[in-house]
Amino acid sequence: MVRVGDSASETRKGWQNVDVRDLLSTSAKSIGAGSPTDAGRAWRRPTEHPDPIALTGGIPDAPTLPVAELRAAFEEVLASEPAEALQYGGWSGFEGLRSAIAERQSRIEGVELGPENFIVTNGSSGGIDLIGKAFLEPGDVVIVEGPSFSGTVRSMRGYMAEIVEVPMEKDGVSVSGLEEAIQRVEAAGRRVKIFYTIADFHNPTGATLAEGKRLALIELCARHRVLILEDAAYAELHFDRPAPASIFGTGEGRGVLRLNTFSKTIATGLRVGWVQASPEYIEAMTRVRFDMGGPPLFHRALAPYVSSGKLDAHVGRMRPVYAEKCDVLSRSLLEHCEPYVRFERPDGGFFLWVECIGAPAQEVARAAAEEGVVFPVGSVFFTDGENVRDSHVRMAFSNASVEHLAEAGRRLRKAFLRLVD
Ligand SMILES: Cc1ncc(COP(=O)(O)O)c(C=O)c1O
Repeated sequence: MVRVGDSASETRKGWQNVDVRDLLSTSAKSIGAGSPTDAGRAWRRPTEHPDPIALTGGIPDAPTLPVAELRAAFEEVLASEPAEALQYGGWSGFEGLRSAIAERQSRIEGVELGPENFIVTNGSSGGIDLIGKAFLEPGDVVIVEGPSFSGTVRSMRGYMAEIVEVPMEKDGVSVSGLEEAIQRVEAAGRRVKIFYTIADFHNPTGATLAEGKRLALIELCARHRVLILEDAAYAELHFDRPAPASIFGTGEGRGVLRLNTFSKTIATGLRVGWVQASPEYIEAMTRVRFDMGGPPLFHRALAPYVSSGKLDAHVGRMRPVYAEKCDVLSRSLLEHCEPYVRFERPDGGFFLWVECIGAPAQEVARAAAEEGVVFPVGSVFFTDGENVRDSHVRMAFSNASVEHLAEAGRRLRKAFLRLVD
């Protein structure tokens, strides 16, 4: 058998010595070396430890995944509507799922929504990609929080947008910083098309945008005709008290695209997320969608899971699980690493954003990996990646076991002692 790429046969001769880089689109070239993809490799720092503790990805708790309920849901769909579940299903996603999500989000956000307000996508990442495709021109400016979810930055760069960062504060993005950034871009004769925010239980900082700032932000963006892209990936996963009202609801849906996903509330492997917006925005995204839509089998299995209240019950069970995990990791860090770390307890989500004191974050992450605890450095969440000087690391507590979370501080202490003393 001939290995793909190895053959020197006549049919391939014309392709010898062709560099794939000469074939790439401008977009693919623009997200080359130094991209968040490269930075992402630093997350999976190798460790020799026989029992490594991974505080890496924002992934739900594995033992409590609703496997039995999902198995029953898939079996039910394959038994009752096999033909519909195993056929193409259209670009917007199964209407029954969009209706179930509409009913649930109307209840949660206090706004009136119908299936026409939704397009179901390949995770929220698929939604981010469609938004870029429908709304971005090369050279448009997208403002993001610094730091932010690197997947969105990569996606927007793929649509040749210029990314501008605005600093995060303890209670969410700096609204005055955002205003200055918009004014600076406009003074240079450019246009800010999108402001991207993870308002609730932010990735990576854990911060939540204060209620008062939400209205100010909506008014500011409306004045400058900047679309707000509200990423609600963690919005439901609060600990003690819910996040403030959504930006979408507060702004009555005008000029706001709200992204959501089942990745954090159910499982990342479903790859089902959605964009919520006014029908004309949804229609624009449907127009530029060429992938034949998401999987009808999954959409049909999930629709009754959402409408029957099973999702509400599951999320209700998960909140205390994540609150406890957050507290176990916090206690472990305070007990073992107190002089070397500083952090705020988030009100929800999957992450602790930990400031390293006395040693650079890069070295802390490297030494910690040698001690068997692995997490990314904060700099990878800034647009300038590894070149940024940032003293934080991000620890995801969602997927690690309680035993590992309790042990993490002890191992991290050893790393600090090697660096500091
Ligand atoms: C803030 C945020 N948005 C979006 C995503 C992408 O999630 P998915 O594409 O699985 O829905 C993630 C994943 O880590 C995230 O943290």
